[in-house]
Amino acid sequence: MGFAFTNLLELEDLARAKVPRPSFDYIAGGAEDEVSLRRNREAFTKWALRPRVLVDVSRRDTSTSVLGQRVSMPILVAPTAFHGLVHPEGEVATARGAAAAGTVMVVSAIATKAVAGPRWFQLYVWRDREVTAQLVKRAARAGYGAICLTVDTPLLGRREKDERNAFTLPPGLSIANVRPAGLDGVPASERGSAFAKYVAELLDPAVTWKDIAWLRSLTSLPIVLKGIMTAEDATLAVEHDVDGIIVSNHGGRQLDSTVGTLDALPDIVAAVQGRVEVFMDGGVRRGTDVLKALALGAKAVLIGRSALWGLALGGADGVRRVLEHLRGELELAMALTGRAALAQVDRSLVQRV
Ligand code: FNR
Repeated sequence: MGFAFTNLLELEDLARAKVPRPSFDYIAGGAEDEVSLRRNREAFTKWALRPRVLVDVSRRDTSTSVLGQRVSMPILVAPTAFHGLVHPEGEVATARGAAAAGTVMVVSAIATKAVAGPRWFQLYVWRDREVTAQLVKRAARAGYGAICLTVDTPLLGRREKDERNAFTLPPGLSIANVRPAGLDGVPASERGSAFAKYVAELLDPAVTWKDIAWLRSLTSLPIVLKGIMTAEDATLAVEHDVDGIIVSNHGGRQLDSTVGTLDALPDIVAAVQGRVEVFMDGGVRRGTDVLKALALGAKAVLIGRSALWGLALGGADGVRRVLEHLRGELELAMALTGRAALAQVDRSLVQRV
């Protein structure tokens, strides 16, 4: 039943045939020359695995905990906007798929459907701070388990495909969470990306470290900063009492020409010294990718586009199948490296090539 695939790398081509061109480009594309996007994948080829043998791996356990929450795998669904572009049930279906796979979905602030917890809520800061504060409070009331503030988007990166396509939300779709405030519409664009204009006009480019205390004053939920790429900022994040960080370059969609996120991870893990949980995303497509990120100190990884392709191709069940496929690959990679449980994954599992 449903779509056939042997690995996550095939999903993009499968989805290309099904998803309208402007939406496909919006999802698949990156900023400018897509160097950051490519480097995310390339970074995984620069680390090799060091398998240990003659270990009993007849029982294998991929479960772990993230911010104190038990999950079936160290793989979460990254926050991505506008799931309604690829499936009529949008984020509601994605949430069901992630739950069926036993893991956490981070729901984007700019989702096309409102969904309740237990999930993590990704936050953007609107210039209207009252609207933003209400979002945070609503998330807590709706049972969300964490607030994940995205810090790499003071303005939208230049995604040139979206510029050419004059990307906007098709009729009938809008940003559900800010509908009560009347900020949900992304108007049609004659030229350029309408979404980039929305971000420039309505989101706040003046958010600073001082605002972490403001966010803290609004909620007792754990706070995670998403989009940290340097040890300096990781250290500041710890000093500002956050509960976790996500090493991310937004899937190569914001600043172009960064390093791949896996290459940013080791310095950040060293700076954090275990004081907060460190997650990473960007280019994770293989179980061996997950294992490398964990060996370099990530508590878990997140997948963005692959989950969206699963949604496009198979709805909630498609999302579940993508997650379970990746979990299966991770389990095999653990067996072949002589690790029966994630607690046995450490730095000695990888070497730089
Ligand atoms: C994103 N990402 C993102 N991040 C965020 O914090 N808020 C958001 O609303 C979005 N929206 C979004 C839309 C689409 C279509 C994509 C592809 C990505 C970034 C996302 O959370 C994550 O960092 C990357 O997608 C991870 O890289 P991969 O797995 O897509 O390679």
